[in-house]
Amino acid sequence: MQKIINGIGNLPGILKELGCSRLFLVVDSSYPFLNIKDAIEALPGGKIKFSDFTPNPLYEQVCEGIKLFESSGCDSILAVGGGSAMDVAKCIKLAVLSKEGDKALIPPLVSQRLPIDGAKIPFIAIPTTAGTGSESTHNAVMYYQGAKQTVTNDGILPDCALLEPSVLRTLPLYQKKCTMMDALCQGIESWWSVNSTEESKGYSRKAVELVMAYWKAYIFDNDADAAAQIMLAANYGGRAINLAQTTAAHAMSYKITSLYKLPHGHAVAVCLPEIWEWMLNHPEDCTDPRGRAYLDGIFDEIAHAMGASDVRGAIAIFRKMMASMEMQNPVAGGDRASELKILSGSVNPVRLKNNPLAIDEPSALELYSIILRA
Ligand SMILES: NC(=O)c1ccc[n+]([C@@H]2O[C@H](COP(=O)([O-])OP(=O)(O)OC[C@H]3O[C@@H](n4cnc5c(N)ncnc54)[C@H](O)[C@@H]3O)[C@@H](O)[C@H]2O)c1
Repeated sequence: MQKIINGIGNLPGILKELGCSRLFLVVDSSYPFLNIKDAIEALPGGKIKFSDFTPNPLYEQVCEGIKLFESSGCDSILAVGGGSAMDVAKCIKLAVLSKEGDKALIPPLVSQRLPIDGAKIPFIAIPTTAGTGSESTHNAVMYYQGAKQTVTNDGILPDCALLEPSVLRTLPLYQKKCTMMDALCQGIESWWSVNSTEESKGYSRKAVELVMAYWKAYIFDNDADAAAQIMLAANYGGRAINLAQTTAAHAMSYKITSLYKLPHGHAVAVCLPEIWEWMLNHPEDCTDPRGRAYLDGIFDEIAHAMGASDVRGAIAIFRKMMASMEMQNPVAGGDRASELKILSGSVNPVRLKNNPLAIDEPSALELYSIILRA
């Protein structure tokens, strides 16, 4: 069972409790500017730092981290950063503990849940963006030969997620918008996912309600209490997707990120309202065994949590949020037709299976042609 604790002041205690003496620090390029850096540097015991990776990290970068961990004599991992840093740390932990090493992260093994004993390397994650919820998931995302890989293993769920919302003070405004929209989409998608459970739906509701209540104060007023609530929302979103997974909006977003360099949360958020509207207009294609009436009930619950009286009203609220933050849809490059073909051929069928309505390639093409501005 993961521990979720609040406040950087509790870090020394949790490290002691988990028996960490020599820390492998996985940090991104924001670390030198973080307000919690000094508290981390002042921790007793040795530390080795790894930060040679980019947002949306690559396999080759993770392999450098694995080599450094193996030569470091570290007994535990502390990840401090956005989803990319936390995911790099997870990949390093999996590779170090699995007998297959870094091959565990790439096809064909990446789709298998290899047996590892996660307890051997205590792992603490401190998110510095409020979006991915990766601090509370057993997934990691990494790119191999240009293709996105999702690593899933119970042994890489951090033992402790430490939430310290004051870190968001240095997060640039556009990153705040993108990551917050990732949290909202994770809340919505996990709620309508075919894998949802009563527990996951409870987390989804909290994620959606918190974002809707605090997003304006977080984005436009830079309010500290609102930042704390959005960080909590993101964590609930992570706990929800850890059980129910994401659906079509995430599946359709990845190629948008790589083709148009749109950050993850922005790419997901341009897909979600179009997919939701499409699902309303295609009632016959429901794949959730609980049936269309159940799904309509879920759509209504999400709409009410967003402060709308019906589903079309909720979609309108979502679009208005995007417009007020000036988050626009991507524009096609030179050859719109071939870009649409690349996009519709790219969709990960595994993630589409979580979607409550079937979306085939022609439907994906139709959706992308709405999402992609001419
Ligand atoms: N593992 C999961 O469950 C999961 C879930 C959703 C998304 N993801 C993955 O997470 C990645 C996206 O993560 P992200 O959106 O958090 O962004 P990110 O980790 O890629 O970071 C984006 C940028 O923000 C900077 N940054 C981070 N915190 C900062 C701070 N407090 N102040 C100043 N700058 C800061 C980073 O240095 C980086 O340049 C993607 O690869 C995505 O696929 C993983």
